[in-house]
Amino acid sequence: MSRKRSETTLAGVEKAKVRISSSGNPFRPGAGSKPPHFAGREDDWRVFDSCLSCLQDGGVPLGPMVLFGPRGNGKTVLMHRMAEQAQGLGMNALHIDPQDVDSPEQLQLTLANAVEAGAGVPAGRSWQWGGKAGFGGAGVDGRKVETRTLPTPKARDSMLRLGETPTVILLDEAHRLSQAGGALLLCAEQSARGEGAKVQLVLAGTPDLPDALRRMEATFWDRLEQRPRPLGRLDRSASLAAVAKPMEASVTLAAGDEIMRLTSGYPYFLQIMGRSLWDALPPPRAEIDSAAVARAADEFLEAKDAYYFDRVADLEAKGLLMAAYEVARTARATGEGLRNAAVQEAVRRSAGGAADADRDHALVRGLRHEGFLWRDKLQQPWTCGIPTLAGCVIEYVNREYAPAVAAAKKTAKRQAGTSEPPPFG
Ligand SMILES: Nc1ncnc2c1ncn2[C@@H]1O[C@H](COP(=O)(O)OP(=O)(O)OP(=O)(O)O)[C@@H](O)[C@H]1O
Ligand SMILES: [Mg+2]
Repeated sequence: MSRKRSETTLAGVEKAKVRISSSGNPFRPGAGSKPPHFAGREDDWRVFDSCLSCLQDGGVPLGPMVLFGPRGNGKTVLMHRMAEQAQGLGMNALHIDPQDVDSPEQLQLTLANAVEAGAGVPAGRSWQWGGKAGFGGAGVDGRKVETRTLPTPKARDSMLRLGETPTVILLDEAHRLSQAGGALLLCAEQSARGEGAKVQLVLAGTPDLPDALRRMEATFWDRLEQRPRPLGRLDRSASLAAVAKPMEASVTLAAGDEIMRLTSGYPYFLQIMGRSLWDALPPPRAEIDSAAVARAADEFLEAKDAYYFDRVADLEAKGLLMAAYEVARTARATGEGLRNAAVQEAVRRSAGGAADADRDHALVRGLRHEGFLWRDKLQQPWTCGIPTLAGCVIEYVNREYAPAVAAAKKTAKRQAGTSEPPPFG
């Protein structure tokens, strides 16, 4: 089957902050930028492969795939690869942005547009939609004639048309979906799939995406056939492959330990490590040893600091810095991940100690959204989604807000009548 492939936009990829090195360095760390070697994620890939097989073999599609995780873990590049894979198999890949489905009307328009743009339009037939399309304007004798607006095809109908050809619909940053647009998208997909449309929806977003989807369409969640897939850090073997494969280098045991210590298997840090190692190693870059990692460390740490600066600025701008600080201090004092009660207590302390369930809830939600609080599974304790960011937050607040912190601690102590919160670790 050779149908025209459509690709409306490649969300996020063009926005990459790419630093192109004059030395031909293949590592280009940045939001959505393609790594020179895509490492790990085998399980997610297997699931996606079986989704594609269903579309291809006419099986019943498995339903939406939901990917969620803290920033910098590779949601966008994974989606990009998925689109490439689908297109390589002759399927359509349609990227849509949350603003394309901002409202039910916008969603209808976007899907109709996508049908028009490529997939599944029967020869000689197209349709117009919305706005001032249609017939009207001034008549020949100057009299006004009636303007008729053609109706936009229903989202479900467009989805059915799209699904005449196997089509993967990818929506990155899905946590930004509006309630109404998102709910309609999920319903339209489900209903079209139920009628045999060959569509595979893939959504990706921040750690709180599952909650956002739950709020959007309560029943969607219960009917979701696949568990949402958390995207966390890479394991050791994938991490070292991400760094070493593009150079076709081997990695000594000690160098591997050091790379893991510095990057914690966090994909963005692995890319800046790869870039720094490439710069530090003279060709032919056959082996990465401890000396090479030591030479790369300065450049790596500088880039890492710049990243931390952005993340701390995000927390500060969103009014989450003090909550993050107290959470980080508690975690440091206990030396392990935190349970819900400890998180609640920390955010309350950050706001002066008085009880306010709504405020505390909003703070915890904010921290989860930012990936500052992260866990793969309900059974696990909360940890920081961005490695060692917690330590930076402690340092930054201690430096920048020293008097305010001292006053807050005093107030909290007076109000709660308790002893000092756990000391800095
Ligand atoms: N599996 C992987 N192997 C190697 N590098 C990866 C992998 N996944 C992501 N990266 C690299 O990590 C960085 C972050 O990836 P990406 O922008 O896709 O993350 P994200 O989760 O979409 O982040 P955000 O939430 O900020 O949009 C990029 O530089 C990318 O090249
Ligand atoms: Mg992304």
